[in-house]
Amino acid sequence: MPGLGFQISRPAAFLAEDLAAIHIRCWQQTYGAIVPCHILARTSLAEQTAKWQIILADPSRIVFFASTHEGELAGFIVAGKPTEELFDGIDGHIAALYILPAFQRRGLGRRLLGAVAQDWIARGGKSLALGVLAQNQPARLFYESLGARLVRTGTYEWDGFPLDDAIYVFENLAEIAEGLLLQITP
Ligand SMILES: CC(C)(COP(=O)(O)OP(=O)(O)OC[C@H]1O[C@@H](n2cnc3c(N)ncnc32)[C@H](O)[C@@H]1OP(=O)(O)O)[C@@H](O)C(=O)NCCC(=O)NCCS
Repeated sequence: MPGLGFQISRPAAFLAEDLAAIHIRCWQQTYGAIVPCHILARTSLAEQTAKWQIILADPSRIVFFASTHEGELAGFIVAGKPTEELFDGIDGHIAALYILPAFQRRGLGRRLLGAVAQDWIARGGKSLALGVLAQNQPARLFYESLGARLVRTGTYEWDGFPLDDAIYVFENLAEIAEGLLLQITP
């Protein structure tokens, strides 16, 4: 079974800096060929850690991380209510989903998404939307393979730099949550 050497957990506050560090690494590795490097270089570890401290202190956020049984972080997902009205009828938003390259294609993205789907259903949610850079084809294929529906293409401004983006919606949350082998530790 793919991903069985890993566990999916909810992070404690002390992990803010570790999550910030892999967040920055994932950005650089994912967007190096898409986003100008001076924009990627703007984010410091201290700034990103401060953002993660706010995320981890907010009970309305759903956060899970994947790690090896030895404790090495492999990836994470952040979701919750949309901070702005994304679409009529869409009640949830996946704000970030990143797996370090060394751990991709082992089923961790699917399991993290499933953990969020399960939690969002438990909170009464029905759907989850997300934005992805249009050129990020591997991520688009991942979302599409799990049943996401493309609802809009447009432009996303990253620090004032315009980038083509695509908005997807998952309405098959029960299906995504169901297909999982979850090992969530409190
Ligand atoms: C996109 C991402 C989250 C997917 O997570 P993952 O753990 O690598 O994907 P999974 O192993 O769970 O894949 C599940 C299914 O999605 C599809 N899929 C995943 N990656 C794919 C790729 N690169 N190309 C085509 N299909 C892909 C496959 O159908 C796969 O099932 P299979 O491996 O049995 O064929 C991960 O690769 C990642 O973090 N990428 C870099 C960061 C990023 O782009 N994040 C999204 C920002 S919006």
